[in-house]
Amino acid sequence: MITHSKIVLDEEEITGVADVLHSGLLVQGEVVSSLEKKLASFIGVRHAGAVSSGTAALHLSLISLGIGHVSEVIIPSYVCTALLNAIHYVRATPVLVDIEPDTYNISAEQVEKAVSKKTGAVIVPHMFGLPADMDAILSLGIPVIEDCAQSVGAKFRGRHVGSFGTMSIFSLYATKMLCGGEGGLILSDDSDLIALARDLRDYDEKETYTPRYNYKLTDIQAALGESQLKRLPSFIRKRREIVGLYNAGLEGVVPRIPAAPEGREHVFYRYVILIDDPTGFIDKMQEKGIMCRRPVFKPLHRYLDLSGYEVTEEVWSKAVSIPIYPSLTEQEAHRIVDAIRTVIWV
Ligand SMILES: Cc1ncc(COP(=O)(O)O)c(C=O)c1O
Repeated sequence: MITHSKIVLDEEEITGVADVLHSGLLVQGEVVSSLEKKLASFIGVRHAGAVSSGTAALHLSLISLGIGHVSEVIIPSYVCTALLNAIHYVRATPVLVDIEPDTYNISAEQVEKAVSKKTGAVIVPHMFGLPADMDAILSLGIPVIEDCAQSVGAKFRGRHVGSFGTMSIFSLYATKMLCGGEGGLILSDDSDLIALARDLRDYDEKETYTPRYNYKLTDIQAALGESQLKRLPSFIRKRREIVGLYNAGLEGVVPRIPAAPEGREHVFYRYVILIDDPTGFIDKMQEKGIMCRRPVFKPLHRYLDLSGYEVTEEVWSKAVSIPIYPSLTEQEAHRIVDAIRTVIWV
C-alpha cells in the first residue's frame, strides 16, 4: 500500500531524541529554546514561542492579540476545523470567507468585504504549501495571523511565509512538513506578544493568577523538530522533484494543483488534482493500493450550515490529494500516475 502521508525520519532524528532521553531532561527546556531560535532565524522573525500544537499556537496568538468575545476573526471556509476551534476557544465570532479559484487561498477581496468594526484579525493559511497574496492581505491594514502549518519554507517575493503577519503559527504534527509527532510554534517580531504567549503556555509557579494552559512542547519533540528543520531544504527539493514527475505524467489527463503565481515559491505540502467524483476515485485508487484523500475533509461553512462560498464548494467537490512526501520513490510516483490514468480512462 502506498500511504497518503509518511513520516520521514532517519538516524539524525533518532540520535537527537536519544540524546534528550540520555540527558534525563525531557520537558520544555534547552532544546525547545534552541528550536525556537532556529525557526525564528530561518523564517526571518525576531521572536518565537513553542507550544504543544498548531491549534494551541492559534489559540494563544488570538489571546495575545487581545481577541475575545466581542471580536470577529476572518478565516477561509476551505480549511480544517483547527481554526474554527481556536476562535471558539476565545469565544470570538468566526467570519468565513471564500477562497480564490486560482490558488485555493483566502481571497483578499472577500476579506475586505467582511471587515467590520469588530474585526480583531484575519487568519491566513497558506494552503497546501502555496503562499497567499500577502500584498493584498496586508494592504487591508488589519492584524494578520499567518497560518504556516502547511507551508514552512514557502516564499512570497523572496521572503519566507510567516514573516509578514503580526504573528504566524506553525505545526509539527507528524505528517506536516516538519515532524515533531505533535507540536507548534508562534512567531512574531513583537516581543510583548511572544512573551504573553509564552507566559500562557505554562501555568506553574506564577506570581499572579490568570487562567493559563499546559501547552508546553517537550524537548523530545523539539529534538525531532530541530533535525527536521535542518533537512527541510532537501525535503522541499524532493517534493518538487515528485511534482515535476506528476506534472509530466498527468499533463492532459486531469486538472491539477494551480501553478504558483509569479513571485511565489510553492513547497507542495499537497499535490491536488480535480476529479468529478472524488469519493469513487479515492475508492478505486485504494483498490489499486494507493491512498488518496480529500485535502480538506469538509469546508467550514458546511459545518456551520451556511450557504454561498461558491469557489470553496467547487474546489471541495472535486479536490483529491495524492501521495507526496520526501520518501516517495520515483517508482511509486510512476505507479501512482499509471493508476490515475487507468482509473480516469476506464
Ligand atoms: C492550516 C492548518 N492550520 C492549523 C492546523 C492545526 O495544527 P495541529 O494539528 O498541530 O493542531 C492544521 C492541521 O491540520 C492546518 O492544516
